[in-house]
Amino acid sequence: MKEYEKIKKLMARGCEILGSDYALIGGAMTWISESNLVSAMSNAGMFGVLASGAMNGDQLKEEITLTKSKTNRNFGVNIILMNPRLHDLLDVCGEKKVSHLVLAGGIPDRDLLKKISAYGMKAFSFAPSLSVAKRLFKYGIDALILEGNEAGGHIGPVSTLVLIQEIMLNMREYPIFIAGGILRGEIFSCLLQLGAVGCQLGTVFACAQESLAHKTFKKALLRASARDAVASIQIDKKFPVTPVRTLENHGTNEFLKKQMEIFQKFEANEISLEEGRLSLEHFWSGALKRAVLDGDVARGSVMSGQIVGIVNEEKTIADILDVIFAEAEKFLAGLDDSTANGDKYAATDSGLIAVS
Ligand SMILES: Cc1cc2nc3c(=O)[nH]c(=O)nc-3n(C[C@H](O)[C@H](O)[C@H](O)COP(=O)(O)O)c2cc1C
Repeated sequence: MKEYEKIKKLMARGCEILGSDYALIGGAMTWISESNLVSAMSNAGMFGVLASGAMNGDQLKEEITLTKSKTNRNFGVNIILMNPRLHDLLDVCGEKKVSHLVLAGGIPDRDLLKKISAYGMKAFSFAPSLSVAKRLFKYGIDALILEGNEAGGHIGPVSTLVLIQEIMLNMREYPIFIAGGILRGEIFSCLLQLGAVGCQLGTVFACAQESLAHKTFKKALLRASARDAVASIQIDKKFPVTPVRTLENHGTNEFLKKQMEIFQKFEANEISLEEGRLSLEHFWSGALKRAVLDGDVARGSVMSGQIVGIVNEEKTIADILDVIFAEAEKFLAGLDDSTANGDKYAATDSGLIAVS
């Protein structure tokens, strides 16, 4: 079909960078993105990413081996830069010949990118501003992911739409993926047309049939509306904490209490900012585990993006992709209702009027 050929062409650069059939990354989700889900994503033609956020080197090695036993397609590993085991994890990936690393939770420096490149791995990372994005390409990053505030998990302060205009549209020649609040094929195809090389989606795949997340966790997401997925509050500017988007529940209040407790220790010089931030990360990781693995959606952390409001059904990865591409094709063919609106209105001196 001619529209599908158009999408293939628009995705070509992203597919080449990822080594996948589709320029769609399954964003890493701690406790969720394990070998089963990640291999299923890559086998379905997209690009899965293992989450190493809660793993030590041996656990990651085992998970990579398991993933490789389930797929011979490319997949990536997500590494959190503030992790004290950063270099162990990176060495494991290099030794296991992982093709791509997705670096999160900070800005990688030149030496780190050199080390990754020496292992023959590609490095992706996130960028919060145009100057950082430019610097990262100068340092040798292979691609950037711009992730807006709508996303699930740890978030930045700026929306996807603004990041696109502030960064992507000013750096069209560079490979940039877009994440946060994306699901429908119409949006995916528009972003490709604007110059994105692909997109990264998370929340929708947490609910996929192949996701091993607890059924209660999935049910909570499937029932939630966009407004339920709220960003955590920072209690004091002196103690900057990366906000996290989760479904609001008892756990959200517990996080506030924990933040207060750690902040008081920081104020009393009992712990450093780094130690404080790290212990909050451990808190999140533990709370996310309770929700994802034990199904405790009342006290655990039910991380989720605002897009959760239109994720209402547990589907297979193949079905999710089929819908995205059908929507994209229909949109590109100009059959979509929203594009047909132009034919339903006529301009007059007093504005637009509907015509039958
Ligand atoms: C439950 C959950 C856990 C996540 N954990 C991580 C993580 O460990 N590392 C990371 O870089 N991003 C993480 N993310 C972000 C996703 O990789 C992805 O970028 C994001 O979900 C995309 O936005 P969306 O939720 O609107 O699709 C997480 C997201 C969710 C929903």
